[in-house]
Amino acid sequence: MQIRVLGSCAGGGLPQWNCGGPNSVRAREGDPAVPPRSQPSLAVSADGRRWSLLNASPDIRDQLARFPGLHPRPDTRDVPLDSIVLTSAELDHVLGLLVLREALSYRIVSTAWTRHALLDHNAAWRLLEPAWGAAPLDTPVPLDREERLEARFFPTAPKVPGFLRKLAAPHPETTVGVRITHRESGRRLAFVPGLKKLDSATLAELAAAECRFVDGTFYSADELRRLRPGAPDAHAMGHLPIAGPDGSLEALAGLPGRTLYIHMNNTNPILDASSSEAKAVRRAGLEVAADGQELAL
Ligand code: MLT
Ligand code: MN
Repeated sequence: MQIRVLGSCAGGGLPQWNCGGPNSVRAREGDPAVPPRSQPSLAVSADGRRWSLLNASPDIRDQLARFPGLHPRPDTRDVPLDSIVLTSAELDHVLGLLVLREALSYRIVSTAWTRHALLDHNAAWRLLEPAWGAAPLDTPVPLDREERLEARFFPTAPKVPGFLRKLAAPHPETTVGVRITHRESGRRLAFVPGLKKLDSATLAELAAAECRFVDGTFYSADELRRLRPGAPDAHAMGHLPIAGPDGSLEALAGLPGRTLYIHMNNTNPILDASSSEAKAVRRAGLEVAADGQELAL
């Protein structure tokens, strides 16, 4: 399986347009320790010829422009894109779909909850309805025509996106992780860009993959509050922090294979590769995903 990181930051990216914090300032200045990052998404392929996307970020236009593997064949409108898999209805995970609306030459796969949440409350999303299939939890769905890659959703603690909070109730399908399996080799990728709680079922799912991308929104629970008194903590915002006795780093440190943090908020000190926090992540054997990074499984 081949994996390309199309974008590694949380919603807003780095630098974020309205943010004068140290990471955004250094990224704007071109500091090599704090490279710019776009909003989160992965591309996956069985063989490097045809690809599927895991989430569709608002930066998808530039992300596809930067990735020759997803350019159309010369003199055609034939793009080697099979499926777009959605793990939630969060805007930083789905807005890219509206950017690709010129042609529905690919399939969209999400849970029924996410499909209904977006289609029922937002007329613009109905443009995408013909391409959009709902997959139940824990059920394999082939991604490509040759059925070499399959996706399978697994439930994680639900977090209703802010814009839907008054319109939809939390459900096991609200926030899912996705397991991608390469059928020939049996090798697995797990992608969990939004993780509120690391329960034993989710940890087992992550442990069973050879490679995993996990929510790295905040390093510490009070990261925002230290900058802005009164701001909610990481848990209240639906993101398990990296550090601390109940943080993700300690739980993920011993897992076999590769573990990469993705969906970092612009305040997260691990975005600065020279910070002590980034060093602590590397010392524990984990990585911070970077835009354009490619992995082979
Ligand atoms: C999140 O990851 O918590 C959301 O994307 C935040 C947001 O709505 O911008
Ligand atoms: Mn987000």
